[in-house]
Amino acid sequence: MKVKAKIAVFASGSGSNFEALENACRNGELDAEIVLVMTDKPASFVVERARQTDIRVVALEPKAFPSKHDYEEALLGILREEDVEWIALAGYMRLIGPTLLAAYPSRIVNIHPSLLPSFPGKDAIGQAVAHGVKVTGVTVHLVDEGMDTGPILAQAAVPVVEGDAELTALAIHAVEHVIYKETLQKLITNKAKCVL
Ligand code: GRF
Repeated sequence: MKVKAKIAVFASGSGSNFEALENACRNGELDAEIVLVMTDKPASFVVERARQTDIRVVALEPKAFPSKHDYEEALLGILREEDVEWIALAGYMRLIGPTLLAAYPSRIVNIHPSLLPSFPGKDAIGQAVAHGVKVTGVTVHLVDEGMDTGPILAQAAVPVVEGDAELTALAIHAVEHVIYKETLQKLITNKAKCVL
């Protein structure tokens, strides 16, 4: 039997990317098992989605800890309990600190709704629409200490629906749900071209 890579998904939003990855694990497109969903926002919809599965859901709020280091140490304890090998950020809106980066070198991946390095940070889709660009897209990259700055693993272009962030977001999400599972599959089977 193939040993499956163990992934933790960190998410704080609606969780559509989590759901797409979970489906890909179940139907064999991704040789991995999501063993943990971690959120820093207990009220986020991803929690409801994850509770429809058997996956362990953990909500840890940074404000409950004296420092970012303590917060990440607590996260590390939970990640180790589940033997997590890879962390997939999917709408987790915090910078990853040195504690987690050191524990998971080149093993933390993020998906961002723009063609980086354009439009990093919050509301990337709104930024693209406001700038009037005709094409935006999706980037999957390894995470480093910066904001959406790590080495790029995959990108796909998505046309902007002029003046309409909502429709553009729909198109972006559809692409995200495909590119994330495909890139993670390449990464965990050592076929991705880029490592730190
Ligand atoms: C996605 O657009 C992702 O690129 C960004 O946050 C959003 C999360 O969406 N980092 P969802 O919660 O997975 O639906």
